[in-house]
Amino acid sequence: MSAIRIAPSILSADFARLGEEVRAIETAGADLVHFDVMDNHYVPNLTIGPLVCEAIRPHVTIGIDVHLMVEPVDALIPLFAKAGANLISFHPEASRHVDRTLQLIRDHGCKAGLVFNPATPLALMDHVMDKLDLVLLMSVNPGFGGQKFIPSTLPKLRAARRRIEAARAETGREIWLEVDGGVKVDNIADIVAAGADTLVAGSAVFGAPDNDGGYRNVMNELRRNAAQASNS
Ligand code: DX5
Ligand code: ZN
Repeated sequence: MSAIRIAPSILSADFARLGEEVRAIETAGADLVHFDVMDNHYVPNLTIGPLVCEAIRPHVTIGIDVHLMVEPVDALIPLFAKAGANLISFHPEASRHVDRTLQLIRDHGCKAGLVFNPATPLALMDHVMDKLDLVLLMSVNPGFGGQKFIPSTLPKLRAARRRIEAARAETGREIWLEVDGGVKVDNIADIVAAGADTLVAGSAVFGAPDNDGGYRNVMNELRRNAAQASNS
């Protein structure tokens, strides 16, 4: 298994101090900033858009991993690409033409990802593998931070990993497998053992006090436990 990436979700950050918060997670060893976009239509919550992405961009050198929980999707893609996003993922239920949306993301110079809700079948990736850079499995229903990890995500991860490896055997191309929701210090090893290589963690990271290196401590613990699984 390749390197493990940890992507703290700023959904649980202090929004009044967002620049400081993203700098703090980069210093603490984050690989990506996970950026949750909710529209009060596809999901019952409302968060942040391209202006906030643009505002945090100069504060970090790591990639910004934009998770679109919006419907429709396409009009926002050029705006997020321009605002400095590096990866853009969306839910297939929210786009009429999934293949076209994936291509649109790539045409704007970003890596493209497809997000699977707990009840969304993995077969939806089958005919677009060549346009995917990232598969994101939701381990909670999207819309809120701080929810509990849904255990059936583990067998689903193993199944997604098999599909990704089968595609890699044919094309040699790597597709990241990301998990989002309820990832904690005490379950990250099982999640990585099931095949994930990119872990979103919101409340686990930002729930720690940042004074006296709390973010760094929890990031180190996440990485240590994840590494144990990937070595075993
Ligand atoms: C949920 C979001 C997640 C969420 C994760 O819809 O996509 O990124 O912030 O938060 P935790 O890690 O607290 O479950
Ligand atoms: Zn997310």
